[in-house]
Amino acid sequence: MIIVFGSLNINTVMPVAHFPKPGETVPCTSDYLSHPGGKGANQAVAAARAGAKVAVVGKIGDDSFGRRCVNNLKNQSIWASGIGMSEHPTGHSTVAVDSSGMNMSIVAPGANNDATADQVPDEVLIPRNILLTQLEVPPKETFMVLSRARNHKTPTILDASPATKMTKEGLANVDYLIVNEVEAHQLAHTLQIAETDPRLIAKAITRLGSPGMACIITLESKGSVAVKNDETYVVRTLQVDAVDTTGAGDAFCGIFAARLQLGHDWRNAMHYAGVGAALSCLALGAQESMPFIDDIEAHVHKVEPPRKI
Ligand code: RIB
Repeated sequence: MIIVFGSLNINTVMPVAHFPKPGETVPCTSDYLSHPGGKGANQAVAAARAGAKVAVVGKIGDDSFGRRCVNNLKNQSIWASGIGMSEHPTGHSTVAVDSSGMNMSIVAPGANNDATADQVPDEVLIPRNILLTQLEVPPKETFMVLSRARNHKTPTILDASPATKMTKEGLANVDYLIVNEVEAHQLAHTLQIAETDPRLIAKAITRLGSPGMACIITLESKGSVAVKNDETYVVRTLQVDAVDTTGAGDAFCGIFAARLQLGHDWRNAMHYAGVGAALSCLALGAQESMPFIDDIEAHVHKVEPPRKI
């Protein structure tokens, strides 16, 4: 099973022709949409659709948004009994999506700020499970669960997003660190890495992590690069006409975790995750647009598997 310790939000999606500048009012090009989101919940849905059993641990508020987030997970056979109630409102993200499919978000974390490591019971931190985390809940709590997972030999994945919350100490108990290109540069700055080429940033990050840690940097339509044990891999991805890229990073992480959990090699996981992330851009919304394993299988052969360089 994959244990996702992370955030749950409701996303209000605003389609716009272009993003507003400070002081500018921009009308939506069509009705706004309201969708379940949050990096944790999005990744859980992506992993479940890719064929894994998934449980989510986090916090919601005592409100209709929270109930909607939980029901949406349950409707996809994701365990939600580890989701607790906070006195703060459910997390809410306002996402502007422009005509090219790019997005900008403002997130009110609300209840997500009350998620605690002790909500994850020791019983689920076992070697055959995988812990999947991000940084939209308090990083201190995320790092604490990662450390407990390491003690119990549970493989760990950290999507270091938002990257501004990452620290050097946070790398200590991570087996697979995943970031996008923008976050990789932010992380390089935080970790005092002088490189600018993603391949070299990934290599430098792995040297700061625990032995054997992999660092994967996603590069949007250019695919991704990864470094593990000083070996560098590159993989291209499917070229699509993106409608909304909001859930792409989460699709990558969830599908990556699912492939590992199903017993596949990490390079196979990266291959499938990249193709699935591209497919997730074909519709508006984060969770609704996550591809199912059959969709990924139908396209994965169009992209060469990761290549060592
Ligand atoms: O990664 C995308 C997610 O980040 C959105 O669903 C939004 O809720 C924000 O948390």
